[in-house]
Amino acid sequence: MTRSIKPLVAGNWKMNGLKADLAIAAEVAKGYDATLKPNVDLAICPPSSLLFTATAALIGSRIATGGQDCSTQASGAFTGEVSAAMLADAGANFCIAGHSERRTLHGETSATVKAKAEAAQKALLVPIVCVGETKDEREAGKALAVVRKQLRGSVPEGAGAATLVVAYEPVWAIGTGLTPTAADVAEMHEAIRAELGRLVGKQAAAGVRLLYGGSVKPSNAAELMNVANVDGALVGGASLKAEDFLAIARACAG
Ligand code: 13P
Repeated sequence: MTRSIKPLVAGNWKMNGLKADLAIAAEVAKGYDATLKPNVDLAICPPSSLLFTATAALIGSRIATGGQDCSTQASGAFTGEVSAAMLADAGANFCIAGHSERRTLHGETSATVKAKAEAAQKALLVPIVCVGETKDEREAGKALAVVRKQLRGSVPEGAGAATLVVAYEPVWAIGTGLTPTAADVAEMHEAIRAELGRLVGKQAAAGVRLLYGGSVKPSNAAELMNVANVDGALVGGASLKAEDFLAIARACAG
């Protein structure tokens, strides 16, 4: 944890969630009480089909919402794409950019991710830029170099503490139940903060929230959230259970 930064726990619902599942968001809102609110920010990133209704359901809860992806383009003949302005118009505050599932399954390069993060910023959304190495890259001792390179390619120029969130999500830890050791997370998050310092300036980098993501659960959240330079979590599977998501939020709030 970086004590001067209010942590953020964001739930990435991925391609899960029908209208009935807004009950999860409502339950999270109920549990986001006066002891949690001052100590941890929460965000839910539902599929874009639910963004407007989720945001409406969360009014008054102080829980933010976010998109999971956005187009690099502002508008026009791009069938199937959703622009950052559309997400903002639906009530979103954040937009995930460059999740490993987008990088892998949709061939997104860091240049694409950067263009998406910039599009998000232009629409006054805060991009959550995701980076992370594969299992092979970690085993080859290349994790730090890979993530530094992704950051150099993906982070918008001129980003500041209030306009950027970075999520470190090792690809091999996503949805597998595996997590890096606390020491490995500490080493990576320190390296990310340092690289951001070179990219956006030390002062801005010091305030950027660095989330850890990949198999975060109530049982491992306290250990992961207590690591230096970890300012919250990007949660997949466990964000679909209100009780688990709130338990992670409590672990993060300290
Ligand atoms: P899991 O928490 O299910 O491992 O997913 C992490 C993730 O990809 C969040 O973006």
